Amino acid sequence: MTSARITGNAKLAGVIGWPITHSLSPAIHNYWLANYNIDGLYAPLNVHPDQLADVIRALPKMGFAGVNLTLPHKELVLPMLASIDATASAIGAVNTIIIRDGACHGTNTDAYGFIENIRPHLTGKNKIGKNKAVLLGAGGAAKAVAYALAQEGFAEIIICNRSLAKAEHLASHYPTAKAASWQSRATHLEGADLLINATSLGLAAKEPLHIDLTALPKTALVTDIVYTPLITPLLQAAIAHGNPTIDGLGMLLHQATPAFHAWFGHPPTITAALRETISGAQEN
Ligand code: ATR
Repeated sequence: MTSARITGNAKLAGVIGWPITHSLSPAIHNYWLANYNIDGLYAPLNVHPDQLADVIRALPKMGFAGVNLTLPHKELVLPMLASIDATASAIGAVNTIIIRDGACHGTNTDAYGFIENIRPHLTGKNKIGKNKAVLLGAGGAAKAVAYALAQEGFAEIIICNRSLAKAEHLASHYPTAKAASWQSRATHLEGADLLINATSLGLAAKEPLHIDLTALPKTALVTDIVYTPLITPLLQAAIAHGNPTIDGLGMLLHQATPAFHAWFGHPPTITAALRETISGAQEN
C-alpha cells in the first residue's frame, strides 16, 4: 500500500538493513501513511555495513525525517550519530534515528515496543505480578527486553543464554538481574510471572525452542519476540500448558509507533486491520 498522495514535499523515512528484503517495517509505516492520508514515503534501504557511515551522513542532506535501523546496523551506527538518548545508550543499540536541524539523533524504541505489547497483562484485573521474569537469550533483542523489565520494576530477572558469559555481562547492568546457564533454563520457571523467548530459536528457518514448562505457574505470561511464525513452538507449548500468551508481532508494531509520530507528526494506532495486513504481508 502506498500513500494516496506523494508530492515533492513528501516527508521521507525508511529502514536501513543488510539484507532488508524481509523487513515488515515498510508495510507498517506505509499502511499508516495511506490510512492518515499523509504526504510521505517509507522506503526499504539495503545498505552494506561498509557504506553505513556515508549513508547516515547523507540522510539530512537528502531531506530525510529519519530512519529505522535493523540487523546488522543497530550497534555499528552508535559512533556515527550527533547524539544518543539515555534509553539507546543504556541498551547499547539504536533502532531509530530522528533528524533535527540537519543532525542525526539516535534512540531505541524496542524496549518500549516490548513493554507496550505486554502492557494489557501488566495492568487491569487479571494482571500478572512483577516478581520474577525468565528471559531466554542475551543478544540484541534480549538487551532491549532486559532494559524494559528493569525499568518496569521486575524484582528478579533470570537471564539464561547458551553463551553464559553474554548472560553474565547483560545481567551485570541491572541490580535485580542474574545470569543462568542455558541447560538450567527449565529449573528457573518455578514462581515465574513472565517467560520471554528473546533467542532466534523458533524462527521458521531455525530449530524450535525446547523447554520443559512443568514448573511454570499456569498464570505466567509467555511471550516470544519471534513472529515468523506467529504461533511459535514455545507459544504452542504454553497454550497446551494452559498459560496466557502474546505473540511477537505486537512488539514490532508497538516499536514503530513513536518513530512514526516523530517523523510524520501523527500518533498512529495499532488496529486489528493493521495486524491482519502485516501478518498477510509476511506470508507473501
Ligand atoms: P538478535 O539481535 O535477534 O537478538 P543475536 O544478537 O544474534 O540476534 O542473538 C541471538 C540469540 O539467540 C542469542 O542469545 C543466541 O545465543 P548465543 O548468545 O549463545 O549465541 C541465541 N541462540 C541462537 N541460536 C541458538 C541455539 N541453537 N541454542 C540456544 N540459543 C541460541
